[in-house]
Amino acid sequence: MEKDVKSILISEEEIKQICKRLGEQITRDYEGKNLLVVSVLKGSIMFMADLLREIKCLCQIDFLSVSSYSGTKTTGVVKFKKDLDIDPDGMDILIVEDILDSGVTLSYLSGVLMGRNANSIKICTLLDKPANRRADIKADYVGKVIPDEFVIGYGLDYDEKYRNLPYIGILAPSVYGGEE
Ligand code: IMP
Ligand code: MG
Repeated sequence: MEKDVKSILISEEEIKQICKRLGEQITRDYEGKNLLVVSVLKGSIMFMADLLREIKCLCQIDFLSVSSYSGTKTTGVVKFKKDLDIDPDGMDILIVEDILDSGVTLSYLSGVLMGRNANSIKICTLLDKPANRRADIKADYVGKVIPDEFVIGYGLDYDEKYRNLPYIGILAPSVYGGEE
């Protein structure tokens, strides 16, 4: 598996620092609010688990699943695969995502949740890849802005693999038939 990683972009230690910094910010901003932390499956699972441990105010958590991706290119079509269990009416929602790329997924999700009377909606993304942005959307909390490379690990996949790498790496182009 490790031989398919061209280089390590974000180390385990740096990920830890990012979670701590974002957790402190979120704790400050949501103290006394009705926080519902929503993880977008499956890419955000590791980030969600580590970030939650750095959030020190009361919150509820939930999970949803959408898909807009196959291989390394986005299809632009978003599908709901698993909805929330908790009613977002009146809640202050924090969407936790692995990566903000074209922005199509998150702008669709924010729209749907807004229509369900959430009190507020903010976005926390571990990675921000602004090079491919197509939707007019910005994250409120960003772990790290990254260059236009296909990344894997720490929850992020290529064709459902590599999610279990403990760091974020750049996928070797040879794996998907690209140029070195
Ligand atoms: P968007 O709708 O284009 O912003 O795409 C969001 C989703 O695409 C993310 O939640 C990821 O699952 C996936 N994605 C985008 N870029 C990458 C990448 O570099 N590696 C792995 N998955 C990615
Ligand atoms: Mg994803």
